Amino acid sequence: MRFTVAIDGPAAAGKGTIGRAVAERFGFAHLDTGLLYRAVGARMLAGERAEDAARDLRPEDLSDPDALRTPEVAQAASKVAVIPEVRAALLDFQRAFAHRVGGAVLDGRDIGTVICPRAEVKLFVTASAEVRAQRRMDEWKAKGLSADYDEVLADVKARDARDADRAAAPMVAADDALVLDTSNLGIDEAVAAAVAAVEAKRPL
Ligand code: DC
Repeated sequence: MRFTVAIDGPAAAGKGTIGRAVAERFGFAHLDTGLLYRAVGARMLAGERAEDAARDLRPEDLSDPDALRTPEVAQAASKVAVIPEVRAALLDFQRAFAHRVGGAVLDGRDIGTVICPRAEVKLFVTASAEVRAQRRMDEWKAKGLSADYDEVLADVKARDARDADRAAAPMVAADDALVLDTSNLGIDEAVAAAVAAVEAKRPL
């Protein structure tokens, strides 16, 4: 069975949590596509051309996801993501993953619009910038790190603007996506809504 769930939306809206929960619930494979851009961003920060890094991305580039989940790498990822050659180099891998037998959940920015326009289920998960900045703060705090709210909020807004305003595959909800605003929605409710959307389309 091939079945694709496309989850898009801005940083810290809950895409990853919802994606992992849906994948676990239905036994689908899950791909956080942001990690691909982060791996390219990290190699750019190390001095490589982003286009070359994207063309030659290797499994070991993704082997330490936590090292890629830093604010510096996030901003670098968002910068390399505006380059059409980078996006083109990452396209085949994402499409192959989406079509794997057994079902797949992909989360990112352009999954429902560009990577998998025919996905069986499309979700656009969002929340206000303030709520998302506070979630990032809480994540840092849980890791024993400190952060300045105004700086985190400015970072969130800068990345939103770059991701939404770029010419190549901008972050936008597909016309047929179910929009989930998690500003005032608990994670359990958001996951329940996503699971219901998949149940409604899943072959029996
Ligand atoms: O989801 P994330 O925060 O890890 O993504 C990091 C950056 O990668 C994000 O700011 C934009 C880019 N990205 C993208 O352009 N397209 C995707 N499908 C996923 C991420």
